[in-house]
Amino acid sequence: MQKPFSQACENNKSYILNTLKDAFATCANILEVGSGTGQHAVHFAKNLTHLTWQTSDLIDNHQGINLCIDDEPSDNLKRPLVLDFAKPWPVELVDGIFTANTLHIVSRPLVESFFKGVGLHLRNNGTLCIYGPFKYDGEFTSPSNAQFDLWLKNIDSNRGIRDIESIISLAKKEGLLLVNDVDMPANNQLLVFKRSA
Ligand SMILES: C[S@@+](CC[C@H](N)C(=O)[O-])C[C@H]1O[C@@H](n2cnc3c(N)ncnc32)[C@H](O)[C@@H]1O
Repeated sequence: MQKPFSQACENNKSYILNTLKDAFATCANILEVGSGTGQHAVHFAKNLTHLTWQTSDLIDNHQGINLCIDDEPSDNLKRPLVLDFAKPWPVELVDGIFTANTLHIVSRPLVESFFKGVGLHLRNNGTLCIYGPFKYDGEFTSPSNAQFDLWLKNIDSNRGIRDIESIISLAKKEGLLLVNDVDMPANNQLLVFKRSA
């Protein structure tokens, strides 16, 4: 198998890292869900040496993530766990959770499962960071995001760019408050949530 590659990850990883440096400054262990190609994990583990980065994804992506880690291993970067939003998560409590470009890929019930998982596995005072496109007051932030949403729904009608208000509401049910909403290139956001003590 050839190592998978995402140009989008290459383009966005330094911008995301800049925000994660602050957001995860006091965290020791991070769980990434939906690690994809593993490019984000390799970059963030290499540059956030104070913490341990645990990758995870559906089993189909593990070979690619492992190839990525083989090329750039770090002592603080962990091989992927099988983690499906729909099933119990194979982890204990973590200080931080990161996910990129997953919530518009999974169905709405799986978005709810994601937040239930966060509620069960993020410790008090923990930080959740979500990267991706969102709608505000029902409006896309750009014409290209509106086109992207149509493209997603043509593949699977359960997919689609989520309303930020529904994401904030699901987070609130798990004791998480939005503390930062950072504009990212290419009409994406990095949402930073904090769980109360
Ligand atoms: C668009 S990719 C994003 C990958 C990577 N985070 C990135 O930004 O390039 C969506 C990811 O969500 C994962 N995913 C899809 N359904 C999932 C589920 N039910 N549970 C956990 N992850 C899931 C996919 O395997 C894939 O890695």
